[in-house]
Amino acid sequence: MNILYLGDVMAEPGLRIVEQQLRTLRTEHSVDVVIAQAENLSGGKGTLPPDFARLRAAGVDFCTGGNHSFHHEEIFPALNDPSQPIIRPANYPAGTPGLGYKYLETPKGKVLVVSLLGKIVGKDADKPVDNPLHVIDAILQTEKATPRVATIVNFHGDFSSEKRIIGAYLDGRVTAVVGDHWHVPTADADVLPRGTAHQTDVGMCGSLDSSLGVTYASLIPRWRDGKITRNELEISGRMQLNAVLITVDETTGLATHVQSIRKSFQP
Ligand SMILES: [Fe+2]
Ligand SMILES: [Fe+2]
Repeated sequence: MNILYLGDVMAEPGLRIVEQQLRTLRTEHSVDVVIAQAENLSGGKGTLPPDFARLRAAGVDFCTGGNHSFHHEEIFPALNDPSQPIIRPANYPAGTPGLGYKYLETPKGKVLVVSLLGKIVGKDADKPVDNPLHVIDAILQTEKATPRVATIVNFHGDFSSEKRIIGAYLDGRVTAVVGDHWHVPTADADVLPRGTAHQTDVGMCGSLDSSLGVTYASLIPRWRDGKITRNELEISGRMQLNAVLITVDETTGLATHVQSIRKSFQP
């Protein structure tokens, strides 16, 4: 089976590019399942139910989460509901709203999708997250007996070293470890020696002529002059779609091929 993972879908420009391009991509690559990072979907932070519905209507089967998953509490009921295909990182402490992993039913069998947050993520470094390696070990142990054709682990983190290590740590135990949060893709998509597909960061979907989806004009005064400025979403200029395509051997649950997909579009 072919699983397509779309990196952070950033606000309205990201939603539009997915709405415009995903059907073609699905057909072109015989995609069975589409998973997308939705933590930036609504206004750049968090996920509102109408935008989640739009992403689903565009052909996305399942949404992962990150450090912005809790920005809009309207999504909490869906995060809590095992039948709704959206999760938040699994390694938030007990009592945090939502579930950190869920199963997706597909015509070819069940796919387990897990989100994890890196131990240090930007300004949220002080947020208490549990150790992601311990948490994934516990999840894989708990779910050991549940038959499935693939296990996709999303690792939402800042440190390239940590994002490489989680790949090696899970090599041969899961189908893929897909990094995101940077909004900039890395060139290391690879099937690791024991059969796990890995990419340090998939990148984002949305504005290309921007810093991670935010206008240069709103950020240059911050970096040059130390001014406190508000992030303004870039809605014009070129757009980008970044994804990783994972081919899975359903009999082993391991990856046989991985391909990074990077596309840009003129305005
Ligand atoms: Fe993001
Ligand atoms: Fe993030």
